[in-house]
Amino acid sequence: MSGLIPQQFVDDLIARADIVEVIGHRIQLKKAGREFKAVCPFHEEKSASFTVSPTKGFYHCFGCGAHGTALGFLMEYDHMSFVEAVESLAHSMGMEVPREESQRPARRYDELFELMQQIERYFQAQLKEHGAAVDYLKNRGIDGATAKRFGIGLAPAGWSNVLDRFGNSNEAIERLLAVGLIIRKDNGQHYDRFRDRIMFPIRDGRGRTIGFGGRVMGNDEPKYLNSPETVLFHKGRELYGLYEARQALRNIQQLVVVEGYMDVVGLARHGIDFAVATLGTATTVDHLNNLFRLCDEVYFSFDGDRAGRAAAWKALEIALPQVREGRQIRFVFLPEGQDPDSFVHQYGAGAFEKALAGGQPLSDFLIDELANQVDMNSVDGRARLAELAKPLINRIPQGVFRELLTAQLAEKIGLPVARLDSLITDRSAAQARRGTGGTGMRPRRRAVAGSPSVVRRAIALVLHNPPAAAGLDATLLDKVSRPGTGLLKEIIEMVQAEPDITTAGLLERWRNHEKGQHLGKLAALEMPDLEDFDAGAELAECLQQLAVSGARQRVEFLIEKQRVTPLTEAERSELRSLGRGSGMVG
Ligand code: GTP
Ligand code: MN
Repeated sequence: MSGLIPQQFVDDLIARADIVEVIGHRIQLKKAGREFKAVCPFHEEKSASFTVSPTKGFYHCFGCGAHGTALGFLMEYDHMSFVEAVESLAHSMGMEVPREESQRPARRYDELFELMQQIERYFQAQLKEHGAAVDYLKNRGIDGATAKRFGIGLAPAGWSNVLDRFGNSNEAIERLLAVGLIIRKDNGQHYDRFRDRIMFPIRDGRGRTIGFGGRVMGNDEPKYLNSPETVLFHKGRELYGLYEARQALRNIQQLVVVEGYMDVVGLARHGIDFAVATLGTATTVDHLNNLFRLCDEVYFSFDGDRAGRAAAWKALEIALPQVREGRQIRFVFLPEGQDPDSFVHQYGAGAFEKALAGGQPLSDFLIDELANQVDMNSVDGRARLAELAKPLINRIPQGVFRELLTAQLAEKIGLPVARLDSLITDRSAAQARRGTGGTGMRPRRRAVAGSPSVVRRAIALVLHNPPAAAGLDATLLDKVSRPGTGLLKEIIEMVQAEPDITTAGLLERWRNHEKGQHLGKLAALEMPDLEDFDAGAELAECLQQLAVSGARQRVEFLIEKQRVTPLTEAERSELRSLGRGSGMVG
């Protein structure tokens, strides 16, 4: 296997592949209208939330959010790399995979992973040679086996250890920069990012090292330094320790999210193999998707201080759309001054597990935190509690969990449940649900109507109905400066260049772009595919709206600028012509 696979071939492959056959070969699919359904292979469930759309060439699980194309399915389900998935799919269709001469981009990733691995080994070797670093770890209760399991190493003191060893050509230096291990100075020289630090490799789902966290051994600042975001490393997605947990456990029953590297490692040292840490960021939707894909029981164990409670509250807000019966989320606050690492060292694994079991269920945490913000002894205060709870409860999907939480809250406030329910239920959401006719649980039109921005909505429309973009005038977007407009324009132009491209084909085109993830989520949004729905007209309307608001912004900008400094001749004439169009200046 060498050479880059030509994009045209991937396009063809995706256009010709029958996703129903690919997936149906591996799990049992049932026809349901135009789509196919199955019990989701990526998370535990009893009902069938997993949906395959043959026309879009796309699968999506409403339960866990998994989604992708036929290639994506092979990668996830059969644990294949992209190239392997292309080869397997092509083989099953009797096609031969052609190769382009240029190997650069495909090789580049492999090279970066390889480089990370070499550097990780270098750090590990350095640890063995520095007794003081080994002592530091020992003093913190980390034995050799645990250090090995997490690949802990040492970046020795000095400004160019990594640079000197791994950066002996311009290309090598570019690679070190790309993975964030060196920093470029203004004068063009470079130096090591990590110096005199204990190094924790951060691994992806397949165990490849994608970044590092580095801790000082003394009291210097900053205590921890993480790799920056790179092509390999996305903080909002990765969880430290998840790979190691999956290696250690056959069956993951529960996962506990903690704040720090040392919490994960310290817990593992004491036999608690199911801890993971976010990487100095708040908990994200991607994190939760990852967690719930693996198990139904998730604990958050943050420090008992204010910052810890604030972090826990953020996690709660993110988790609300994903709570449902069968899933358990608990918040565990350790005694003041303790973190999971210090706690487990002092009291042992049994005590930590007990603390988990005694954690606050999400519903209790939610109600307690809100109750703390009001005066529960006054009528006003209790009314205010209902107000505060309303937007939160509305984020929870309809179901038993939501009903129980509403009942619990009603009791706390001293209101009949039905009364509270009618106070809380968001009218527009309720109407959207009622308006869905026979299809049941999911609001049909809401995904479109409720989208936060016109740009997103337009991108989603193109993704779901590529042919609808055929006749659009993408130059309308030239003067629009909203985020996402560039992507919208690119995707419209792509459809116009490749009129037969499908949803799946578009997604594959963006597979290696950062925006690909975003597109995948938009594709997974539910779109109306009602008979009378005219996607082309909706799209044209979106573009028109954007063009008008773009012009308006530009007019506002020019008028503002005029106050500070005289406009150029070109700007004045632009303002005149725009003003006429948008009706803002006479
Ligand atoms: P130890 O002191 O080694 O036990 O670490 P800890 O995990 O108890 O530290 P703390 O609670 O202070 O930090 C928790 C997590 O926040 C760390 O694991 C890091 O991911 C992150 N963090 C802490 N301090 C810093 C810092 O100075 N800079 C950055 N970027 N992240 C930090
Ligand atoms: Mn600690």
